[in-house]
Amino acid sequence: MLNTKQPVLRRFWYAVMPVDHLKDGPRPFTLLGEPIVLFLDGKGEPAALEDRCCHRTAKLSKGWCKDGNIVCGYHGWEYDRDGKLVMIPQFPFEQPIPEAKARSFHAQTRYGYVWVALDEPLSDIPDIPEDRTAGYRRIHQFYDKWNTAALRLMENSFDNAHFAFVHKGTFGDINQPKPEKYEIVETDYGFDAETIITIRNPPNAARITGTTDPTTKRHQRNKWFMPFCRRLDMEYPSGIRHIIFNCATPVSDGQIQVVQILFRNDTEADCSTQELIDWDAAIIAEDRDMLESTDPDAIVDMGRKIEKHMPSDRPGMIMRKRLLDLLHSHNEEEQPRQQIA
Ligand code: FES
Ligand code: CO
Repeated sequence: MLNTKQPVLRRFWYAVMPVDHLKDGPRPFTLLGEPIVLFLDGKGEPAALEDRCCHRTAKLSKGWCKDGNIVCGYHGWEYDRDGKLVMIPQFPFEQPIPEAKARSFHAQTRYGYVWVALDEPLSDIPDIPEDRTAGYRRIHQFYDKWNTAALRLMENSFDNAHFAFVHKGTFGDINQPKPEKYEIVETDYGFDAETIITIRNPPNAARITGTTDPTTKRHQRNKWFMPFCRRLDMEYPSGIRHIIFNCATPVSDGQIQVVQILFRNDTEADCSTQELIDWDAAIIAEDRDMLESTDPDAIVDMGRKIEKHMPSDRPGMIMRKRLLDLLHSHNEEEQPRQQIA
């Protein structure tokens, strides 16, 4: 599936940038192949416009903010948060400004990130109750570009067969290749997926998992939110909850912006932010290395043309089917890869 060629994918919210990144002025981003500019309006709310001035097509992201509007850096034309042209500084004061607009998109802040939907959203931003639950802290772990498809990261999240191999350097056990089963319940937003896995618990993981045992169990109550968000809710026997939320924001067909936010029910004294970042950085680097080696076209048509499958691929197969159903329910056909000669 080519994400940029499926209009229905424009109707979901994606996490695009930590809102902090906008405090010094406008910033560009490419979402589903669409160049946009993000900035803060007069109330400090994020705004998203096409990154193109209607005068001589300069990128608005090269400009600056003024009183909650964005000013083009080329000749100073000024737009409000809805993209309406409100000022042409070369015009005399009494001369009316022509009706003109930069296209605007839906934007809001959640979990410290700016989220954008390019067209009318079909659903809300996935809810994370722990963000408003006492006793939990929120840590922005990663914000990186990966050269892979969004669906690849989603499928990998629910693939219990890769731990023993990809993660043999961290929590996986190469001698235990047999994957644990997932219990999957499909929902309107995607699915809930529950599993209990045994992981290696090396000494540097003791403060992460809350135990010094050489192995420990991880009870996972995970969720997939269509199309490209996931929640990995890991509970250890120590009572520690390690909840990873990701958005695999599609930049293009072969590139994603990986957003990873962690929620933990412990304190900085129990396990520091840096320890948590370092621990998950080693794990996610293992995933990244492998996922960037896969074919970025995720082949939604159940992989019939190219890929072979095994039973533990079932969560990913459900995703592919649900995404195909989504396309069909919006009268879209899957746009396949370019034919390789
Ligand atoms: Fe933007 Fe001229 S190109 S003001
Ligand atoms: Co992994």
